[in-house]
Amino acid sequence: MTMDAVQDAPRLQSTGVPPSAGRASKRPHVTIRNLSKRFDKAIVYDNFDLDIPRGELISVFGPNGCGKSTLINMIAGLVPPDAGEILFDGMRLDEIKFGYVFQNYREALFPWLRAFDNIAYPLKMMKVEPAERKARTERLVARLGIKLDLNLYPYQMSGGQQQLVSIMRALVVEPEILFLDEPSAGVDVSLRKNMWKPVRECANPG
Ligand SMILES: Nc1ncnc2c1ncn2[C@@H]1O[C@H](COP(=O)(O)OP(=O)(O)O)[C@@H](O)[C@H]1O
Ligand SMILES: [Mg+2]
Repeated sequence: MTMDAVQDAPRLQSTGVPPSAGRASKRPHVTIRNLSKRFDKAIVYDNFDLDIPRGELISVFGPNGCGKSTLINMIAGLVPPDAGEILFDGMRLDEIKFGYVFQNYREALFPWLRAFDNIAYPLKMMKVEPAERKARTERLVARLGIKLDLNLYPYQMSGGQQQLVSIMRALVVEPEILFLDEPSAGVDVSLRKNMWKPVRECANPG
């Protein structure tokens, strides 16, 4: 990783979730090479390299405006880099399945859909049949042991519950990589614990 030219560079930290037995693999899953991005005169990334191993939770730390969201959004394909390459086991983003949990969960859920239908929504986009959508959503909820009335609409849920629904919506496609932008912002301490459970399960299934 080369970030010397960048002021207030974000720092990366692995939370050290060990890959489960039999799936252990430390080779890089995501490889970022020579990534550069500027907004007008502000250089946010300049020839940035990073390897992210499969099965690990990686956190990006740094002060406001240092480029955390820009990095995650470039990896997730929401912001185009000026230069550089991002590959997932050698594949491009459009060849893999990924999930994204937006920072602003209050606006990220569909207010007219119940929790269940919010979670199942990506499957609908993938043209999965209704019965299969229901089965897969129920399986995910059961696996995570989430205690939440899935008939509720977003306005009937607490912030933390909405965030759990956002995370489950990202997990329902069984993503190879999951992006979360400040997922615990505005979530109280007791719910943070619940919130991380599905994320850890995703990083380390079975
Ligand atoms: N669309 C944009 N247009 C212009 N500048 C932007 C844009 N997005 C981000 N920036 C700038 O890039 C820098 C990094 O932003 P961001 O990645 O959102 O920071 P963080 O998520 O670490 O708070 C900031 O200086 C911000 O003002
Ligand atoms: Mg941000």
